[in-house]
Amino acid sequence: ADPNRDKQIEAHELAAKLYHYLLMNTEQGRSALSYLRDRGMSDRLIDQFSIGYAPESWDTLARFLESRQFALPLMEKGGLLSAKQDGSGYVDRFRGRVMFPIWNRDGKVIAFAGRALGDGQPKYLNSPESPLFTKSRTLYNFNNARPDIRKRRKVVLFEGYMDVIKSWSAGVHNGIATMGTALTDEHAVILSRSAEEVIICYDGDNAGRAAAMKAIPMFEKAGMTVSVAMLPGGMDPDETIDAYGPDAFLRDVMDHPVSAVKFKLIYSRKNHMLEEDEGLRKYLLEAARIIAEVPSAMEREVYMKELHREFEVSLDSLKQDVHAVRETMQ
Ligand code: GTP
Ligand code: MN
Ligand code: MN
Ligand code: MN
Ligand code: MN
Repeated sequence: ADPNRDKQIEAHELAAKLYHYLLMNTEQGRSALSYLRDRGMSDRLIDQFSIGYAPESWDTLARFLESRQFALPLMEKGGLLSAKQDGSGYVDRFRGRVMFPIWNRDGKVIAFAGRALGDGQPKYLNSPESPLFTKSRTLYNFNNARPDIRKRRKVVLFEGYMDVIKSWSAGVHNGIATMGTALTDEHAVILSRSAEEVIICYDGDNAGRAAAMKAIPMFEKAGMTVSVAMLPGGMDPDETIDAYGPDAFLRDVMDHPVSAVKFKLIYSRKNHMLEEDEGLRKYLLEAARIIAEVPSAMEREVYMKELHREFEVSLDSLKQDVHAVRETMQ
């Protein structure tokens, strides 16, 4: 055992308790608590995710840690504190932020994501990378979601912390998210050990769709079956649940993911001007390439028939083009 590591974890655990206490029980936490309630978070949910508040103060946590004999330079390395410019000591890194503890797989707090109240920048401030916290390997909520993921052999990947939490309250107990950074191959491999299937449920905006396009091959490389749950009108899961309610979210979004191939076809379609001959032609050629990558001949046929029905292309020419692409793939 590494004593520094144990101390770091102990400090993070205590900081989470302090932030949660300040949010729930003090005057300082009042505006953050209303902020969370306005965003549809019940006290029960706030409790389940140990959400807290770091007050608008330079030294609340620094003094707390000092009084408990934690070595402050060590606390700075873990990212709870920042060194003052003039080297005269340490200040709190997180100030005036709603605090989301990040857990490791044993359920120990190893980092925080701090959200600004309202429009402050940056929107999220995360703990820095440290021996304790590697973003490329950490998945938010994996510790809580793991039993359900293993039971269903299925995991849902969200874009943000709020999406994971709101979806959890809607009944999705196998949801996780990356740390605001892109998905890595390591993440995909970690998830592939607990699940065969992944549903990507990123924000319904251009950024979310582009990120889903990047994530699909990573999961496929890890041997997983991928589908994509698409959200209406540029919204994210958190906004969708607020706007339409948890039942509609489960029924209309979570229960109807489209296959990775279907998603690629939809994505390609959105990126071409189908009203113009040139755009339609390019789309059809790209669609043929997407369909060509499907291993099963039966499935390829289903997609080709859809395309054939939708646009005035013969099934024969489609088959020929898909076949030609497959020839080049061998
Ligand atoms: P919330 O609903 O309040 O979470 O805001 P949002 O839905 O507008 O968040 P957005 O879709 O922009 O961000 C999704 C995820 O990206 C967040 O959960 C973070 O992990 C990450 N993220 C967003 N903004 C920042 C930022 O300013 N800094 C960092 N490090 N991460 C961010
Ligand atoms: Mn509590
Ligand atoms: Mn987004
Ligand atoms: Mn979002
Ligand atoms: Mn959101």
